Amino acid sequence: MNPSNKLLVFAGSTRAHSWNRKLAGVAADLARTAGAEVTAIELADFELPLYNADLEARGTPAAAIRLKELFDAHPAWIICSPEYNGSYTGLLKNTLDWVSSPVKGHPQWSSGTLPFAGKVVGLLSASPGALGGLRSLEHLAPLLLNLQCWVTPKQFALSRAGEAFDADGQLTSEASRASVRAVVEQALWASRQLQAR
Ligand SMILES: Cc1cc2nc3c(=O)[nH]c(=O)nc-3n(C[C@H](O)[C@H](O)[C@H](O)COP(=O)(O)O)c2cc1C
Repeated sequence: MNPSNKLLVFAGSTRAHSWNRKLAGVAADLARTAGAEVTAIELADFELPLYNADLEARGTPAAAIRLKELFDAHPAWIICSPEYNGSYTGLLKNTLDWVSSPVKGHPQWSSGTLPFAGKVVGLLSASPGALGGLRSLEHLAPLLLNLQCWVTPKQFALSRAGEAFDADGQLTSEASRASVRAVVEQALWASRQLQAR
């Protein structure tokens, strides 16, 4: 069977003019050019309350189940992570917590790690600051590894994001574009390798 070339792309921000959403758009375009079948999602379309086990006991939100299905259906992902206080956003943490929480007695989702295990994740970040949100990736990678994801060795943090895009949302620096492409292509390559095993 041919390996799936499906790639899920999303940003850890719901801000209207999010730099990370723009970066996700660039990554998605580059992935399509590389032959991937891309699903780009907006976390704003998956409204989730703050994780609370008591709330969960009354029923896992439908948005969490939809995300579990999407995560599991894509062997490779690109996450564009904003940096808040040297780490990733509460939105991203809350989303990953809901998606990784087992649904008791559910025929498919009683394992919390199932939507994560074996998925290849390429990490990107964007920030108006000089470090480009790099520190958020240093926190996000161990979380994903803990959930049994494969995190690509190549990562890219886009610094000075406020000056990095043109009016069409394209990166003006060819070097930055090449760095995003390298992460995307490595994630797709690694995903194919894992599926071939
Ligand atoms: C609470 C808070 C903390 C922040 N901390 C950092 C930080 O540690 N490093 C950084 O580079 N930017 C920091 N920023 C600025 C964000 O990088 C900036 O708001 C960015 O635009 C967020 O990503 P987005 O454009 O994708 O929404 C912070 C912003 C907020 C609201």
